[in-house]
Amino acid sequence: MRRVLAGVLATTVLAGLVTLAAHASPRAAADEPVVVVSSTFDDGTAQGWTSRAGEAVAPSTAVAHGGTHSLAVTGREQSWQGPTLNLLEKAQKGIRYDLSVWVRLAAGEAPTQARLSVERRTGGTASYDQVVGDTAVTADGWANLRGSYTLAADVEFLATYVELSSATASLHIDDFSLSHTPLPPIQTDLPSLKDVLADHFAVGAAVGNAELLNNHGQLLAKHFDSITPGNTLKWDATEPTEGAFRFTDAEALVSWAKANGAAVRGHTLVWHQQTPAWVFKDAAGNDMTATPENKALLLARLEAHIRGVVGHFGDDIPVWDVVNEVIDENQADGLRRSKWFEITGLDYLRTAFRVAREVAPDAELVINDYNTNVPAKRDKLHDLVVRLRAEGVPIDAVGHQMHVNVQWPSVAETEAMLAKFVPLGIDQQITEMDVSIYTDDSQSYPTPPAEVLLAQAYRYRDFFELYKKYSANISSVTLWGLADDNTWLDSFPVTRKDHPLLFDTRLQAKDAYWGVVDPGRIGGPTSTTTTTTTTTTTTTVPPATCAVAYAIGSQWQGGFQGEVRVTNRGNAPVTAWTLAWSFADGQRVTQLWGGVHTQTGSAVSVRNASWNSTIAPGGSVSFGFLGSWTGANGKPTAFTLNGVGCQS
Ligand code: XIL
Repeated sequence: MRRVLAGVLATTVLAGLVTLAAHASPRAAADEPVVVVSSTFDDGTAQGWTSRAGEAVAPSTAVAHGGTHSLAVTGREQSWQGPTLNLLEKAQKGIRYDLSVWVRLAAGEAPTQARLSVERRTGGTASYDQVVGDTAVTADGWANLRGSYTLAADVEFLATYVELSSATASLHIDDFSLSHTPLPPIQTDLPSLKDVLADHFAVGAAVGNAELLNNHGQLLAKHFDSITPGNTLKWDATEPTEGAFRFTDAEALVSWAKANGAAVRGHTLVWHQQTPAWVFKDAAGNDMTATPENKALLLARLEAHIRGVVGHFGDDIPVWDVVNEVIDENQADGLRRSKWFEITGLDYLRTAFRVAREVAPDAELVINDYNTNVPAKRDKLHDLVVRLRAEGVPIDAVGHQMHVNVQWPSVAETEAMLAKFVPLGIDQQITEMDVSIYTDDSQSYPTPPAEVLLAQAYRYRDFFELYKKYSANISSVTLWGLADDNTWLDSFPVTRKDHPLLFDTRLQAKDAYWGVVDPGRIGGPTSTTTTTTTTTTTTTVPPATCAVAYAIGSQWQGGFQGEVRVTNRGNAPVTAWTLAWSFADGQRVTQLWGGVHTQTGSAVSVRNASWNSTIAPGGSVSFGFLGSWTGANGKPTAFTLNGVGCQS
């Protein structure tokens, strides 16, 4: 996460900046790594590494990760002290670099944590970008800090450094490298998403400023007509200290959007995260408690913040996520117990929308949240919107984040989410969509399996079909990222490589892209699925290509609710399906959702609904039903999918 030095607001005109030299990196073929810097210390010198502030750095033979030497760092007194290397003439703007360094504590030091960061300065203002977060380090072995970094601004100073949580521990570093892998050109012969979807809604991507440059910028301009700054309009970025607004990064994005004919979604004015600590300190500098004085102070800060930020951009930002993630469906009143709520009750919501409307009368004002498909959360959000609008609070739209995955949630549940808000006559936006390839926190794939990427493509197809069905009620659909090389899901909820977007890590169109643009081409020749193709020469018919899980959700006298999940275990998609079974105990299906059923005697057959006709390889569909029973309610054990027996 970005940290910004407090209190050093630049007032200088940004003149005479160094735009990094184009000669810095030799020309190289796409996909071949280019090593720009390699520090082994084996020549017995520090190879350009220095100390940040007075601590000592010196080549050492006490330990080495490879070769004969490492770099020893001693005499530290502050946690931010450590070895640093000037990258100003080495790294170019808009290129994604991989950084790697090995770290070990000096003999006898207690375990602590190390970080790898970049310091950059523009117009005298320093910013600190974290490349690798806290990583456990000890004196007993080497730990690798590895991450990537793209410089997005012109700078007059640029350096990488290693720091420790411990203020005093001595350390060694070794085998540092700075490298990059040139990208192939973007595909210019593909349909642009914004053209394909022009009749339905705007299509957007959330980006950082590095994604406005080079290949990323070209891809963004080609496909998207709306952009959301992923972080640069959040409170910690725009007002890190009270009254000291910083807009340089967000302004760069707004200018890019103007130059490229894209709209900007402002994200976000009020959130319980990425809000600086000072906001919730009382007049004496202590943490606020819920008193009338603190409430007045907090609402005044909120008003000043919104006036400062929204007022600064005026008409350049026509839509704002005014409040973000304020619902907690586990509270009886549905309201998240954030500091905002604890200190002001509902008044922070009232103030935020009122002030935003006053400052930007023409802007569309959104209440944004995640998991809005979950029925309890959906309903609590709905009820809050109804209640506040009845009071006259100017909420113009509901934002559904749609951070989903290859299995969850169902299209039916998502449709119920959209349908719920239609009667309010309120605009809806999909604000942060991504489709994780993971369905639980324990999974991690070294390379994404082909069948999972196919399942993802079908998910994108189905969700976009649904959005189009509701396009009278949806004004924009935004993805939370441009391409798989940069997604917040790489570190949330756990650290692992995810691939949740429409373009791959080399910015090439995935099957997911075709899911949106032309589903008939999913799995086709232009698919850039990265896994290997299996050539099968055997003619053996695979035994069962499906698996069925049949569960009785609840059961009462004479009635029960059944839940059935059908998984495609084959290598090809099933494009229309009928599942059949026979009841042994005379049960009857009385009502069924997620499919169309018929029953003759004990024989039940369930055909797909229009929206879940395809089961991707490795993917599943589910349906539920109400049934009647007398005497016994045994679970059926034999199922067929399109006439072929399934595992159950
Ligand atoms: C994420 C950003 O993408 C990350 O870079 C940052 O470290 C954390 O926040 N819901 C939201 C977004 O509303 O603001 C979040 O963005 C993702 C979840």
